[in-house]
Amino acid sequence: MSRLHLPDLNQTITQYGEVQQFLQGKGIHYERWVLPVAVAPQADERTVLSAYGDFLTPYMKKNKYQTADVICIREDMPQLPELKNKFLQEHTHSEDEVRFFVSGKGLFWFHIPDAPIFSVLCEAGDLLSVPAGIRHWFDMGEKPYVKVIRMFIDPQGWIAQYTNSQVETRYTEFSL
Ligand SMILES: [Fe+2]
Repeated sequence: MSRLHLPDLNQTITQYGEVQQFLQGKGIHYERWVLPVAVAPQADERTVLSAYGDFLTPYMKKNKYQTADVICIREDMPQLPELKNKFLQEHTHSEDEVRFFVSGKGLFWFHIPDAPIFSVLCEAGDLLSVPAGIRHWFDMGEKPYVKVIRMFIDPQGWIAQYTNSQVETRYTEFSL
């Protein structure tokens, strides 16, 4: 199920096409990749990349992404508190942040000039691309579990530049 939430307007959009259209209007690409047969949750990187190859290869070619990898964030990771904290602070990147959700979920929050702050729930099958330079943060909730394919032009571009605005602290009650 899609879910776009605008807490300041007390508004939620759940229809996939409407969410996609809203995001498109903000320059954010959102689409869904559905496999005929699901990949096992414990599948390794090569298996995941190969399973989604028919979607991944043309998408990467079209957008000139050079590399892809798979990362998994789980509750039992020792570095979780640090990671969670990094993702939760408003930041930008000098290249697009492209994430395809293989399993698990997370909330992408967006802070776009002249627009109300909004979040997008990303779950298995969702592809979302955060454009370079857009202020955002990522909330994995109380019990983080997310496995994603990441795509890069240059992985160096994905280093976060923090805004230190602390705007994210105003929205903690709407956490995942
Ligand atoms: Fe980011």
